[in-house]
Amino acid sequence: MIVMRSQEGLRRALADLSGTLGFVPTMGALHEGHLSLVTRARSENGGCAVSLFVNPLQFDDAADYEAYPDTEAADLGLLEAAGVDVVLVGNKDDLYPPGFATRVDLTGVTDGGEGGQRPGHFQGVCTVVAKLFGLFWPQRAYFGWKDMQQLCVIRRLVKDLSMPIELVPCEIVREADGLALSSRNRRLDASERAAAPRLYRGLCAARELWHGGERAAAALVQRVFEELGENFPGDYVEVRDTTDYALVHDPVEHGRIVAAARLGATRLLDNVSLS
Ligand code: PAF
Repeated sequence: MIVMRSQEGLRRALADLSGTLGFVPTMGALHEGHLSLVTRARSENGGCAVSLFVNPLQFDDAADYEAYPDTEAADLGLLEAAGVDVVLVGNKDDLYPPGFATRVDLTGVTDGGEGGQRPGHFQGVCTVVAKLFGLFWPQRAYFGWKDMQQLCVIRRLVKDLSMPIELVPCEIVREADGLALSSRNRRLDASERAAAPRLYRGLCAARELWHGGERAAAALVQRVFEELGENFPGDYVEVRDTTDYALVHDPVEHGRIVAAARLGATRLLDNVSLS
């Protein structure tokens, strides 16, 4: 595995790979969810590349950025064991040198959801992803359904800017009790960790209602809030379209139920497919 610590030389390292390139952008603190993207990228391409970069532009809260776990040595070990060919360990002075002035901003698909809760978040995500796509120029890029709005936003970006990159959405990986894997889970204390699976339970209960014939979005949303209860406040619960992230109105015939909720200082995101 070749580990690059700056853009310099990255293209040369990538040029030595043969066949298509599958790319997995990450902010490190890797878990089985990331590794499932890597495994898929490896199996579908001649080469596999990963970036580890905690992107300051996408944090609306400086304390959140500072608290982001730094597990570089462990991450590199996991990537090596997973058979990754090239890793870029990004650093902000290299990726955003003095004078860096570009921001990539989307409208519509970034409204509401995480875009509504975290001002500037998607501008930061789109700026870094556009930059990373420019550096790696992969044939395929792998993103998890867990950050469903991010997936829809990047899909829009790639389409609007005519980037010849296939986005591959990958299913959410869960703990045995249903909690969706996330780098933020390690911030939960024992009692928060015990409560956390209620988010997925609520989503599953709402999906069961839907399977039973309920087509009113408000009833599905209400069911999730019931399961969360008072000490697990939901920031939002919505039914969203899987391509453009538009709100799905009654009668709800498709989409995913998406939820964000808070346990103490930690925000958890999850969603399930209505299919
Ligand atoms: O999903 C993430 O980890 C980040 O938002 C991404 C796509 C790596 C951009 O920093």
